[in-house]
Amino acid sequence: MVAREAYFRYIKNPYCFASLKKLVIAIDGPAASGKSTTARLVARKLGYLHIDTGAMYRAITLRVLEEKISLDDDARIGALAEKTDVRLERLEEENKVYLSDRDVSRAIRNPEVTRSVSTVSSYPAVRSVMVREQRKLAARGGVVLEGRDIGTVVLPEADLKIYLVANVAERARRRKKELDLAGEKIEEQKLVQELIDRDTRDSSREISPLRKADDAVEIDTSHLTIEQQVEFIVRRAKEIIKKLNASHYR
Ligand code: DC
Repeated sequence: MVAREAYFRYIKNPYCFASLKKLVIAIDGPAASGKSTTARLVARKLGYLHIDTGAMYRAITLRVLEEKISLDDDARIGALAEKTDVRLERLEEENKVYLSDRDVSRAIRNPEVTRSVSTVSSYPAVRSVMVREQRKLAARGGVVLEGRDIGTVVLPEADLKIYLVANVAERARRRKKELDLAGEKIEEQKLVQELIDRDTRDSSREISPLRKADDAVEIDTSHLTIEQQVEFIVRRAKEIIKKLNASHYR
């Protein structure tokens, strides 16, 4: 918007900028497709809130493991999800995950949680609690939610839906780099197999499987830099904001 145009718009209606539309952006895709980094940077560029819904499922999974509940016991796991307080906060550019007041940001990334989270997140009782909370977090707009079912189930009315993919070799390479930095040693071939297994479980479950929404924009990030994919999404978002605001003031 040009400054002069904005000035006249303000003179006509001093409250006009209070109503500038804040989008709801959904980013879905398989494990290690770059969702978290992309969503975090897109949110930062637009001044939006970033919500990592995978972290919410991981936090519940951590509690299940701590309580030593059998992974087959969907009734107890559902009841636990209902009474567990998961909070996401941003602290100095870092996304933090809390179970009540306990910072579990690191613990939810441990290998046992990663191995068990697909099973825990496949239970309808767990999903209904998570979806309810995610919708509450998105209610005021100005949010980037990332996960598996955001564009299809959680927020089918999202203003912009992105589906990120990358070939499995590239995803394993990226995951290895992250783990190396964290001081964890694991063979790349093992990571390839883990990613394939998790993708299979996430996309073949009965309820809210991982799937591209019909109206999502698919981006293959195998040969893109993070900056390129972030730039692409931010540009799309700004186009939508411009269009929505233009029709709002017509
Ligand atoms: O994005 P992630 O790897 O942290 O997600 C962990 C698991 O949580 C993933 O294997 C599937 C599940 N998940 C889900 O079922 N629905 C979401 N919206 C987000 C994650």
